[in-house]
Amino acid sequence: MSLRILLTEEQIQARIKELGAQIDADYPTGALHLVCILKGAYVFLADLARAIHRETFVEFMGISSYGKGKTTSGEVKVTKDLDNSVEGANVLIVEDIVDSGVTLSYLMQVLNQRKPRSVRIAALLDKPERRLRPVEVTYVGFKIPDEFVVGYGLDYGEKYRNLRDVCVLEDGADGPGPG
Ligand code: IMP
Ligand code: MG
Repeated sequence: MSLRILLTEEQIQARIKELGAQIDADYPTGALHLVCILKGAYVFLADLARAIHRETFVEFMGISSYGKGKTTSGEVKVTKDLDNSVEGANVLIVEDIVDSGVTLSYLMQVLNQRKPRSVRIAALLDKPERRLRPVEVTYVGFKIPDEFVVGYGLDYGEKYRNLRDVCVLEDGADGPGPG
């Protein structure tokens, strides 16, 4: 398997500055509750949170709809829940990538039941061609073609999360990952 750079560190950082400015301009004064979807969004969260200039709270949520390979298991489950209530809060879900939309449409349902003031989604990457469930993503970093990507938090079999660029993983057979 080989890696081909799709988005460089510089492109990613420049886009995140723009997203932070847009988020600051869109929300009324007051705190924003960032909900980071583990594990893939942890790098994006770290940079996006620092591009937002207002009071923020950071929460983590574990959701899994994928096995160890490249294809969805079709099954969504909460593997780690929030530590604090989001009732009355402006919630921004921070996700690495929207693919089928299965994960985020499920998560929107779960979080809306908790009576937040608002819930929006920020996703670094969007693969619109792959959508199975409609989901409104307010803040999108980059629309990308239907290719499997790794790096900047995204993994294949838990590998490659620490790459600084987003790369396409090439010549890989669809199936269980190495780990
Ligand atoms: P969805 O429920 O199909 O939208 O899946 C979203 C999740 O699948 C993301 O949070 C990622 O964890 C994973 N995923 C989807 N596409 C990719 C990819 O190209 N590389 C790595 N992970 C991916
Ligand atoms: Mg994920």
